[in-house]
Amino acid sequence: MAAAALGQLFEGMKAFKGSDQQVRLFRPWLNMDRMLRSALRLCLPSFDKVELLECIRRLVEVDKDWVPNDANASLYVRPVIIGNEPSLGVTRSSRALLFVILCPVSAYFPGDAVDPVSLLADPTFIRAWVGGVGDYKVGGNYGPTVMVQEEARKRGCEQVLWLYGPDHQLTEVGTMNIFIYWTYEDGVLELVTPSLDGIILPGVVRQSLLDLARTWGEFRVVERKITMKELLQALEEGRVREVFGSGTACQVCPVHQIVYQGKHLHIPTMENGPELIHRFLKELRAIQVKGPLGNGLGGRSGKVTSHELLDW
Ligand SMILES: Cc1ncc(COP(=O)(O)O)c(C=O)c1O
Repeated sequence: MAAAALGQLFEGMKAFKGSDQQVRLFRPWLNMDRMLRSALRLCLPSFDKVELLECIRRLVEVDKDWVPNDANASLYVRPVIIGNEPSLGVTRSSRALLFVILCPVSAYFPGDAVDPVSLLADPTFIRAWVGGVGDYKVGGNYGPTVMVQEEARKRGCEQVLWLYGPDHQLTEVGTMNIFIYWTYEDGVLELVTPSLDGIILPGVVRQSLLDLARTWGEFRVVERKITMKELLQALEEGRVREVFGSGTACQVCPVHQIVYQGKHLHIPTMENGPELIHRFLKELRAIQVKGPLGNGLGGRSGKVTSHELLDW
C-alpha cells in the first residue's frame, strides 16, 4: 500500500573546515532541538537528538573531503523526516523515513563584499499566523511561499518581507529572520528583532547574533514587535542604520530597498558600512572556522574574544 506522507519536516545547518583541517558543525544542538519540536508538532515518531547528531557527525566525517577548503564555503547538511504510515487516514504517523543529505555550497557572498537585496512588502501575502505553525520548520510552511517569491521577482524585488496583522508587523525576510539596527524613538541605539511569539522561526543565526551583541554590551539588544509605521517614521527621521536578514544560507544579508504600498523605500544599510553586518560576519566566520576556546585550535592572541565567552 502506498504511504501517505502527511508530515514532512527538515533542518538546515552547515559544516565548515578550519585552517587546521578540522571540520566543525555550527551550533547543531539548536537544530536538533528545533527538529524534535517539529517532529512532535507533526505527530511524527520521536527520535534521540544525541544519537541523530552522532549519526550526522559520522556522516560528515565519512564525507569530510567534500567540505570545501575555503573559509567562506561549507558543506550544507539537510536532515529530513517524512512520515510514511501505510494508511490514507489523517492520523498520527507511527513510521517515518529520517535521512540526511549533504551538499557542498560555495560562498553566498564571494570575497568580503556583501550584496544587498530588495524586498516586496505586500500585506496580502501571509507566511504564518498566531495559532499556526510558523515557528516550526515544517514543509507545509515553505511550499506555498514559492509563488509569493515569484511574485516578488515579477515586481522587481529579490525577496519577500513577510508582514503580519493590521499594523503590518515586520516578521521575516524570505527564509531569514529580520533585524533592524537603529536609534529607537527614545533616542537609544538598539538592535531589534521580532520576539518569538509563535509566528517567527527561532533561527540559529538569529540566536547567535543576539548572543554576540549582548556579549558586546555596546548597544541595547531587544526582541519586540516592529511595525511598518515605526520603520517609515525612523526612515523619515534618518534614524535607521542597517536592516538585514539572518539565516544559515547567507549568515547575514543586507537590505537596501523595501517596496511597500507603491513606494520604493530606500534603506541606507550600505551607506552605513554596513558596519554591524561586517562585524557579525567576521565574528561568525571566526567561530565557524576556528572553533570556540578550549579546543586548542586557532591562533589565540591572548585577548578573550566575545565568542570565546559564549562557550558554543
Ligand atoms: C522562515 C525562516 N526564518 C528564518 C530562518 C533562519 O534560521 P537559521 O538561522 O536557523 O538558518 C529560516 C531558515 O531555516 C527560515 O526558514
